[in-house]
Amino acid sequence: MASPSPPSRQAAITSVGHYLPETRLTNGDLESMVETSDEWIRTRTGIQERRILGDDGKATAFMATEAAQEALDKRGIGPDAVDLIVVATVTPDMLFPATACLVQDSLGASNAWGFDLSAACSGFIYALTTGAQFIETGQAETVLVIGADKMSSIVDYTDRTTCVLFGDAAGAVVLEADEEAGLHDAVHHADGEHSDLLRMQGGGSLHPSTHATVDAHMHYLEQEGPKVFKLAVTRMADVCREVLDRTGLDGDDVDYLVPHQANQRIIDATAKQLSLSADQVMVNIDRYGNTTAATIPLCLYDWEDELERGDDLIVTAFGGGLTWGAGHLTWAYG
Ligand code: UT7
Repeated sequence: MASPSPPSRQAAITSVGHYLPETRLTNGDLESMVETSDEWIRTRTGIQERRILGDDGKATAFMATEAAQEALDKRGIGPDAVDLIVVATVTPDMLFPATACLVQDSLGASNAWGFDLSAACSGFIYALTTGAQFIETGQAETVLVIGADKMSSIVDYTDRTTCVLFGDAAGAVVLEADEEAGLHDAVHHADGEHSDLLRMQGGGSLHPSTHATVDAHMHYLEQEGPKVFKLAVTRMADVCREVLDRTGLDGDDVDYLVPHQANQRIIDATAKQLSLSADQVMVNIDRYGNTTAATIPLCLYDWEDELERGDDLIVTAFGGGLTWGAGHLTWAYG
């Protein structure tokens, strides 16, 4: 990828919204569902509880809409102002139409077009970069970038190696033009050679849903955890370093690292390799688990009151695909 040349219009985050289901699934609850323990989950992952949306007819588009509505309300702009909606998700309400179209309808964003983006846990940063292009080129004035996943719909609650990890949530940001603040640089990677390490095989065109695919549990997420762990630790740190080198920043210049929340140990290892202290790193995995595309905007939401205009943030993620990346942005408000 070419070195960054700052555009005259930066795409800045001007508001953040979120949605968390009320129902909490604690480590104690999981102890009664599979052979696990609160101690194992806390020490191996850092997770204490996660949120679950439940089965009452609500799904990813509902959570995405709630998060987007909150972001628009906080910014004081109506849905008619939205030009583009990008929804990062691996749990769309259905294969098509796109979740973005369902969100567009429920928001009443009658002037917006939109699409879904599938990059698993890297979905939000892929979508942020994508949405930013439309602001930078002047194609759009207001973009909604949403990360939303109802992971409970694809998690096998008899598989202790995955069911303790994931939760449901949505986060949304509004992107608008700013002359100084915003997304300055981003680097993304993909490596399909390892696509088998983290995937859901059933329900696509290769394995359309049948009784046989359901019997084989192919409608559930599968993961080779330790292999993904090792790759996540090195690749997230490497891509952050790549971005820091390109932007000329060093660790001391970073106000916050905003990492995807898959495992506290991965976050700690990444921070250590970048020589960042704990107070430079946003972490809320203890409360929400891994919410896939929602983790990064949920962090921004939780830290919003601490952030000030001009703060330097590094966002980074790693996930199924494999996909990974990092971006440097300066905060636009506060
Ligand atoms: O977000 C997208 C990318 N995903 C990730 O980044 C996830 C990366 N992977 C991980 O975070 C970790 O690999 C896991 C949290 C999934 C697993 O942690 P680990 O330290 O790698 O454990 P392990 O898979 O090596 O398993 C260690 C032991 C095994 O038992 P034995 O063979 O040593 O007897 C597992 O069977 O822990 C056992 N185990 C459990 N025990 C209690 C696995 N899951 C559980 C569990 N409760 N839930």
